[in-house]
Amino acid sequence: MSTINISDDQSKREEELVRAVIASFEKTPDPRLREVMKKLVEHLHNFVRDVRLQESEWGTMIDFLTAVGQITDERRQEFILLSDVLGISMQTVAVSNEASGSATEATVFGPFFVNDAPHIGIGGDITGGAPGQLCWVEGTVRDTQGSPLGGARIEVWEADDDGLYDVQYTDGRVAGRAHLYADSDGKYSFWCLTPTPYPIPDDGPVGALLEATGRSPMRAAHLHFMVTAPNQRRLITHIFVAGDDLLTSDSVFGVKESLIKNFAIQQSDTPTPDGRDVGTTPWSRTRFDIVLAPMASEVLETLS
Ligand code: BEZ
Ligand code: FE
Repeated sequence: MSTINISDDQSKREEELVRAVIASFEKTPDPRLREVMKKLVEHLHNFVRDVRLQESEWGTMIDFLTAVGQITDERRQEFILLSDVLGISMQTVAVSNEASGSATEATVFGPFFVNDAPHIGIGGDITGGAPGQLCWVEGTVRDTQGSPLGGARIEVWEADDDGLYDVQYTDGRVAGRAHLYADSDGKYSFWCLTPTPYPIPDDGPVGALLEATGRSPMRAAHLHFMVTAPNQRRLITHIFVAGDDLLTSDSVFGVKESLIKNFAIQQSDTPTPDGRDVGTTPWSRTRFDIVLAPMASEVLETLS
């Protein structure tokens, strides 16, 4: 359906309403708010007119958004989940983090980051006893000129082998997360779990939307990173596992080619980089060299 099948009079009435609503925001003192609200009205009205939205469908939409609000609390943010499955989060990441030379690409933040995760030294272990296959991760943190960013802070977090983050358990455990600092050569390394695929929370209205539209809630296997260093743009990203079947159907559209890494499986008798005894089970290893983009000059000015 579209506006091409309506009479000129009907079309004029509809356009008049759009103009009136846009004009109502003309006196907004904040110029950015003014721009955003006028564009929002323009696009939303285009949507309503384009699909010829019926009143009953408007009601369904209101009920859906009400349910999204009702399930949202300090532990669960269903609005962000909705933004994620609609690709709005990733589009905002793309717009806000325009490519900067060789800088590592960003991806979606997700709801499972926790401030004050435990500190580990280089080569430490983030698993906290969570079930899964051990994985050694190593790499460097550099700026776009190739200089090492010694002391860069690296936050890492991931789900366990059962597809759950520690905060999804009710026993208060802290597992599968930590922070560490790159050494003076910009090098870092740690033990974690080989990432495995898991579903985003799908027992609420967003899950019902995925079900109704024949979409899967599964996320491609990944390990989250947040990396910060003075005068560099904060990087929020993941690395993904090469060969994972879900790379092309990630439920939140987070996969970027440059973030897919080889997690090479090692037999249990292969010596580990730090001499750790992994017992009788295979383990994996990967490398992730991180490049931070310079902070925009206007941000630097406000900080000085
Ligand atoms: C995550 O990767 O943790 C995540 C991202 C978006 C929605 C739900 C979970
Ligand atoms: Fe995740």
